[in-house]
Amino acid sequence: MGGLIDNLNAWSKQFDTMTRLICVTSGKGGVGKTTVTSNLGAALTNFGADTVVLDANLTNPNLGFHIGIPLYPKTLHDVLKGDAHITEAMYIHDSGLRVVPAGLSVEDLEDTDPANLSDVLLDAVGEPDFVLVDSAAGLGNESINAIEASDEVLVVTNPNLPAVTDALKTVNIAEEAGTDVRGVILNMVKGHDSELDTEEVESMIGHPVMMEIPHHEKVEEALSMKKPVVHHEPDHHVSERFKAVAGDLAGVEYEADLSEPGLFSKIMDRFK
Ligand SMILES: Nc1ncnc2c1ncn2[C@@H]1O[C@H](COP(=O)(O)OP(=O)(O)OP(=O)(O)O)[C@@H](O)[C@H]1O
Ligand SMILES: [Mg+2]
Repeated sequence: MGGLIDNLNAWSKQFDTMTRLICVTSGKGGVGKTTVTSNLGAALTNFGADTVVLDANLTNPNLGFHIGIPLYPKTLHDVLKGDAHITEAMYIHDSGLRVVPAGLSVEDLEDTDPANLSDVLLDAVGEPDFVLVDSAAGLGNESINAIEASDEVLVVTNPNLPAVTDALKTVNIAEEAGTDVRGVILNMVKGHDSELDTEEVESMIGHPVMMEIPHHEKVEEALSMKKPVVHHEPDHHVSERFKAVAGDLAGVEYEADLSEPGLFSKIMDRFK
């Protein structure tokens, strides 16, 4: 544990004056961007990093549901309209994670210009160590602005051909924008023979798979309780995988326990 704390201290000093803007993006919708954003946000906060997660999915925002924050008077929409400063739209979760939600009503979309995101993000620079930007899927203005406004992207995909093909388009946009492609999160892995494996995904996308996240009912269970799985079941092997990615991003030495429980403990779990 001492090693981890020493590492954290050295690391937080290193990032005192540097905010990393990381866009969590994908080509295809529904692959797990918001799940990845909320869980990495939770894990980075647990590691002691000052972290903000921001809902840049302006048309279908739901980051607030994934983390469990009440309806908030100011949202990213107000900030993009110039009616609020980003700090006024930051909700502080009990865990310490800060959340910038987006407005949920259709009226919120009126006069909202996603092109202002870049300035809004620059206003957030300086204080937090990380700003994780939960983007919309696809190649529309919303997602392109989020990619262009960030320093790094994490590309989320599922292990099938359509998702990976669409992910590749997003990677091309990031490369053209000069945004560093940090890596790929291969989410909802079921272990079926029909799935693409890590090597295939890496050779198609041309960037490393940072982590495989299995498809697991605990992730859905956590969402139904409006919690990231990292908060809901911190020691679960799925949570450990998110912590490992967070450790990797933060440069913290974290020995994640990625082993899945044996059949016996799975059966015992059913009786809990
Ligand atoms: N590893 C997983 N195992 C099981 N369910 C998962 C996993 N990852 C995500 N899900 C579920 O899949 C659904 C879609 O996830 P999520 O909302 O994170 O995707 P998204 O990429 O943000 O979608 P959108 O493109 O609409 O923003 C959610 O119900 C979520 O709980
Ligand atoms: Mg989403």
